Order: sequence, then structure tokens, then C-alpha cells
Amino acid sequence: MKKQTRPQSILFGVSMVMFFCMIVLSSTSVKAKMPPADAVSVGSSVCLDCHEDVGNDFAKTMHGTLLSKASENSCESCHGPGSAHVENQDPAMIINPAKQDQFDGKSTCLNCHNTDNFSNWAMTDHNAADMNCSSCHSIHSEYEAMTTGKINNLCTECHLDVKAAAFMPSHHPLKEGNMSCLDCHDPHGGQATFAHESSTRELCFSCHPEKEGPFIFEHAPVNEDCMLCHSPHGTVADNLLTQTEPALCLNCHAMHFHAAVEGWDGDFENPQAPERAGTTTVDGWKIGILTKCTQCHTEIHGSDMPSQTISTSGNALTR
Ligand code: HEC
Ligand code: HEC
Ligand code: HEC
Ligand code: HEC
Ligand code: HEC
Ligand code: HEC
Ligand code: HEC
Ligand code: HEC
Ligand code: HEC
Ligand code: HEC
Repeated sequence: MKKQTRPQSILFGVSMVMFFCMIVLSSTSVKAKMPPADAVSVGSSVCLDCHEDVGNDFAKTMHGTLLSKASENSCESCHGPGSAHVENQDPAMIINPAKQDQFDGKSTCLNCHNTDNFSNWAMTDHNAADMNCSSCHSIHSEYEAMTTGKINNLCTECHLDVKAAAFMPSHHPLKEGNMSCLDCHDPHGGQATFAHESSTRELCFSCHPEKEGPFIFEHAPVNEDCMLCHSPHGTVADNLLTQTEPALCLNCHAMHFHAAVEGWDGDFENPQAPERAGTTTVDGWKIGILTKCTQCHTEIHGSDMPSQTISTSGNALTR
């Protein structure tokens, strides 16, 4: 009996040792990021004894100016009570907000910046990518006003595809510095969609209100989503269109009447309007109709004027 239980008890013993090791390791790694519970504040001047450079830079920031006026412990308002760290000079005994999850309810930054701005952060891709306030804000750098150009540079450091798109022939004026990513996106995730408005259509209407209608003669895809035809950051085709015409339209429509009909080669006469007489080719109809649909269907986003139609519907969006 004893011989049989032995291997099991060794296994049991080994696994218990591993179990306790894990507990010890995990508890020390949790504690490692925090000052010990009995640590107290020592005041900023003590910090500057060893971190003079950091302190000099910090004095030029907005936090440096405001927080040092408010308290003698301004460093510790973000780094937590520093007595143990000062004694041991152990970086593990002081909070580094850049290494801390700011959105787990124990945040340093959100202690002071606890606004609704961040309420949907948890649903953003930035959160999923384990980003933090420090991914975008540099606390110890000299304060610089966030101009549109700087914001665009910050965002496109990571979003190179968007930067590339903004250089395409048709683009929103981002690279010109007349617009910033924040005109359409909220860096703090105020909306789950990550834009200021709850849908992309509403976002577009905030600057292009004439497209909203309501129109008597509507174009169904415009009512659904502008992104069915447009791409927001930049495109090769004109007017931020995902494709050039007629390919764009032919995704959803068949080419119509004349376009499929062969013409003829040669001259034609026009008795009513002799000045409009001309020469045509076999492909004349196709060229006329399959080049740019919006040459005739000018009111592509909707219209209040009935079109001249063969049928009685009047909704051909031609005027
Ligand atoms: C006696 C010298 C000394 C004093 C005083 C001191 N520190 Fe440090 N601090 C250090 C050393 C040494 C390091 C480790 C530097 C390294 O690893 O490069 C450090 C690292 C840090 C770090 C980086 C931690 C990390 O996780 O990377 C922070 C933040 C910090 N100190 C803040 C403070 C604050 C706030 C105070 C005042 C409460 C303070 N220090 C006072 C010596 C000191
Ligand atoms: C508003 C919050 C805040 C305050 C106040 C603050 N810090 Fe920091 N500190 C940070 C953050 C965040 C980091 C992480 C690096 C970064 O974002 O720049 C940091 C990093 C550090 C580091 C590590 C530097 C490095 O290069 O890794 C030191 C040292 C430090 N702080 C010292 C101080 C001292 C000294 C003061 C007071 C004079 C101070 N901090 C005040 C937020 C703060
Ligand atoms: C002790 C309170 C306090 C803490 C902690 C704090 N801040 Fe601030 N912060 C302020 C105050 C006050 C202002 C100036 C008024 C304002 O804009 O709300 C400010 C301004 C800012 C600004 C705008 C000005 C600028 O410098 O660009 C940013 C960004 C900012 N804080 C980020 C952070 C981040 C990131 C953290 C965490 C590392 C943090 N703050 C921690 C109080 C605090
Ligand atoms: C994806 C990048 C990004 C992240 C992550 C981020 N911010 Fe910001 N934040 C910005 C930008 C860009 C601005 C500039 C807004 C402006 O000037 O119009 C800003 C502005 C601010 C401001 C000043 C204006 C305001 O909205 O009140 C504060 C305060 C602030 N951020 C705090 C934080 C805190 C705290 C965190 C982490 C909990 C954080 N930010 C995370 C990009 C970011
Ligand atoms: C440190 C890198 C980094 C910075 C800086 C950054 N982002 Fe991101 N962003 C990411 C990552 C990673 C994702 C996840 C998806 C991906 O890989 O593109 C993402 C996703 C997004 C998305 C789609 C996410 C969604 O939730 O729908 C938008 C929009 C976005 N970022 C806008 C911005 C804007 C605006 C800024 C500047 C204020 C910015 N980002 C700054 C890394 C960054
Ligand atoms: C005119 C409004 C507008 C501007 C300005 C804008 N975006 Fe967008 N962005 C959008 C819309 C709308 C979407 C969603 C597209 C979709 O649903 O197909 C989007 C999607 C994204 C995405 C996720 C999908 C992708 O294309 O990778 C990222 C990341 C992003 N934007 C980053 C940025 C950055 C960075 C800037 C600034 C350089 C910026 N955007 C400027 C409207 C805008
Ligand atoms: C913050 C304001 C703003 C928002 C939001 C906005 N736009 Fe624009 N849009 C502009 C500006 C500014 C221009 C450039 C006008 C100019 O150059 O004359 C422009 C131009 C355009 C153009 C013409 C581009 C060209 O090559 O001539 C299209 C198409 C367009 N926007 C579609 C959209 C769509 C779709 C949305 C929604 C995703 C949107 N816009 C959201 C401001 C905005
Ligand atoms: C069915 C495809 C389609 C949809 C959906 C669509 N558009 Fe367009 N849009 C076009 C075409 C095609 C042009 C170019 C028109 C031209 O060349 O005459 C254009 C041009 C534009 C322009 C620039 C020229 C102008 O008329 O001011 C803006 C701005 C614009 N669209 C905004 C929007 C907005 C906002 C939405 C969503 C409400 C939207 N579009 C939905 C096809 C579409
Ligand atoms: C994403 C699909 C889609 C795209 C792309 C698209 N349309 Fe449409 N279009 C529709 C739908 C759906 C209707 C409504 C059809 C209905 O009610 O029977 C419609 C209706 C029309 C009508 C009115 C005719 C009618 O029977 O109501 C015209 C004209 C038209 N589209 C022209 C265009 C042109 C020109 C383009 C390219 C610039 C285009 N469409 C791009 C889906 C699309
Ligand atoms: C030369 C002018 C012209 C061009 C170019 C043109 N159309 Fe039309 N289209 C018309 C007219 C006029 C009508 C109305 C005919 C009617 O109501 O029966 C019409 C009707 C339509 C209809 C509605 C047909 C129906 O059954 O009610 C659609 C959809 C349409 N066009 C799509 C397109 C597309 C897609 C293109 C580009 C490939 C295009 N059109 C190019 C003049 C044109």
C-alpha cells in the first residue's frame, strides 16, 4: 500500500510546492508595482535630490505648474507615497502610471480626470490593444499645445495606413493641417463607434448637412450608409469614392438601355437641330452611358425634382 501511494504523494508534494510558488510569485508581482501599505509621502523636494532632470522638465508642464502650486507632494499625487522607494531606491516600490492599467478602477490619472469622456473606453480597440494614457500623453515633456498637425502626427505614428490614405488624390484636408483626426474620432472613446456621433451618417451630416434631406426622391444606399460609396480618409477615385464610376454604380445596378445596344459607324443628321449633327461609332452609346453615370444622374444623394422618365416614377435623380 505504502509503495503505491508514494509516487502520488511525491506528485502531490511537488504540485503543492508549485502552487505555493505561484501564489508567492503572483502576490509579489502585484505588490511589486505598489508602494508598501505603510509608505508615506516625503514631499517633492526629496524626489528632486535624485531625479533633478525629471523635476526640471516637469516644472515646464501644465501638471508641474498647477500641481506644485497646490501641494508640496505633487510628484506623489501620481507616483504614490514614496518613503519606501526613497529608503530602498527600489523602482518596484513606486508607482509608474505608464505601467499601470488606467482603466481597472484603481487608476492614477482617472482619480483626477474622472469624466464621462472615458466611459466607453473599455469597448474601444485601443483598450483591446492594452493602450494606456501614456501611449498618447507624455507627462514629463514640456507642455506643447495640441495643434491639429501635432494630433495628426501622434495618431499616424501608429496608423500608417491612414497617413498613406491622406496622401491619396482625394482626401479630407488632414495633411494640409486644416482638419484633425479628432474632428471625427474621440481619442478617449466617448462613443462606442469611436466617433463623436452615434453613426457615420450623422458624423458626415455634421459638416455636409445638405446631404441629409429628407428628399422626395431618395437614393436607398445614401439613407443606409455613406461608406457604401465613400471612404473617409482618402481614395484614388475623385470625391472620396471607393471606386470610379461606372464601376461603383455597376456594383448594384445593371447598365441600362442604350448602353447595351450597338450603335453604328458614320455620320448622323438631326433635322430639328442641324448644329447637333455629328459622327458616331459602334461603341458610342456605351461610351456615353458607361463613362460617368452622374453626368446624367447628377442628384445622386437625392432630389426633390421629378426626373423626366419613360415610366411615370420620376425618380431617376437626374435633376
Ligand atoms: C535616493 C535617491 C532617490 C530618491 C530620493 C527618489 N528616487 Fe526614484 N528612483 C531612484 C532610483 C535609483 C531609481 C531606479 C532608476 C533606474 O532604474 O534607472 C528610481 C526610479 C524611479 C521611478 C521609475 C520607476 C519605474 O517603474 O520605472 C520613478 C517613477 C521614481 N523613481 C519616482 C520617484 C519619486 C516620485 C520620488 C519622490 C517621492 C523618488 N523617485 C525619489 C532613486 C531615488
Ligand atoms: C501627472 C502625473 C505625474 C506627476 C505629477 C509626476 N509624474 Fe513622474 N511620471 C508620470 C508618468 C505617467 C510616467 C511614465 C513616463 C511618462 O509618461 O513620461 C512618469 C515617469 C517618471 C519617472 C521615470 C522616468 C523615466 O524616464 O522612466 C521618474 C523618475 C518620475 N516620473 C519622477 C517624477 C518626479 C520627481 C515628479 C515630481 C517632480 C513626478 N514624476 C511627477 C506621471 C507623473
Ligand atoms: C492630482 C490631480 C491630477 C492627476 C493625478 C493627473 N492630472 Fe492631468 N491634469 C490635472 C489638472 C488640474 C490639469 C489642468 C486642468 C485640466 O485640463 O483639467 C490637468 C491637465 C491634463 C492634461 C491637459 C494638459 C496637458 O498637459 O496636455 C492632460 C493631457 C492630462 N492632465 C493627463 C493626465 C494623465 C495622463 C495623468 C496620469 C498619468 C494625469 N493627467 C494625472 C490634474 C491631474
Ligand atoms: C489615443 C490617444 C490618447 C489616449 C490613449 C489618451 N488620450 Fe487624452 N488626449 C488625446 C489627444 C489627442 C488630446 C488632445 C485633445 C485636444 O487638444 O483637442 C487629449 C486630451 C486630453 C486631455 C485634455 C482635454 C480633455 O479632453 O479634457 C486630458 C485631461 C486627457 N487627454 C487625459 C487623458 C487620460 C487621463 C488618459 C488615460 C485614461 C488619456 N487622456 C488617454 C489622446 C489620447
Ligand atoms: C500607440 C499606438 C496608437 C496610437 C498613438 C493611436 N492608436 Fe488608434 N489604434 C491603435 C491600435 C493598436 C488599434 C487596434 C486596431 C488596429 O490595429 O488598427 C487602434 C484602433 C483605432 C481605431 C479603430 C478602433 C475602434 O475602436 O473602432 C481608431 C478609430 C483609432 N485607433 C483612432 C486613433 C486616433 C484618432 C488616434 C490619435 C488621437 C490614435 N488612434 C492613436 C494604436 C494606436
Ligand atoms: C472625415 C472624418 C474622419 C477623419 C477626419 C478621420 N477619420 Fe478615421 N474613420 C472615419 C470613419 C467614418 C471611419 C469608419 C469607416 C468605416 O466604417 O468603414 C474611420 C475609421 C478609422 C479607423 C479604423 C478603420 C481603418 O481604416 O483602419 C482608424 C484606425 C482611423 N479611422 C484612424 C484615423 C486617424 C488616425 C485619423 C487622422 C489622421 C482619422 N482617422 C481621421 C472618419 C474619419
Ligand atoms: C469636421 C467636418 C467634416 C466631417 C465630419 C466630414 N467632412 Fe467631408 N469634407 C470636409 C472638408 C473641410 C472637406 C474639403 C472641402 C474642400 O476641400 O473644399 C470635405 C470634403 C469631402 C468630400 C469631397 C472630397 C474631394 O475630393 O473633393 C467628400 C466626398 C466628403 N467630404 C465626404 C464626407 C463623408 C462621407 C463624411 C462622413 C464620413 C465626411 N465627409 C465628414 C469636412 C468634413
Ligand atoms: C450611391 C453612392 C453614394 C453614396 C451612398 C453617397 N454618396 Fe456622396 N457622392 C457619390 C458620388 C458618385 C459623388 C460624386 C458626384 C459627382 O461627381 O457629381 C459624391 C460626392 C459627394 C460629396 C462631394 C461633392 C458634393 O456633392 O458636395 C460629398 C460631400 C458627399 N458625396 C457626401 C456624402 C454623404 C454625407 C453621404 C451619406 C449621407 C454620401 N455622400 C453617400 C456617391 C455616393
Ligand atoms: C450599394 C448599392 C448601390 C450603389 C453603389 C448605387 N446604387 Fe443606385 N440604387 C440602389 C438601390 C437599392 C436603389 C433603389 C432601387 C429601388 O427602389 O428599386 C437605387 C436607385 C437608384 C436610382 C433610382 C432608380 C429607381 O428605380 O429608384 C438611380 C437613378 C440610381 N440608383 C443610380 C445610381 C448611380 C448613378 C450610382 C453610382 C453613382 C448608384 N446608383 C450606385 C443601390 C445602389
Ligand atoms: C445619358 C444620360 C444617362 C447616363 C450616362 C446614365 N443614365 Fe441612367 N438613366 C437616364 C435616364 C434619362 C433615366 C430615366 C429612364 C426612365 O425613367 O425610364 C435613367 C434611369 C436609370 C435608372 C432607373 C432605371 C429604371 O428602371 O427605372 C438607373 C438605376 C440608372 N439609370 C442607372 C444608371 C447607371 C448605373 C449609369 C452608369 C452606368 C447610368 N444610369 C447612366 C440617363 C442616363
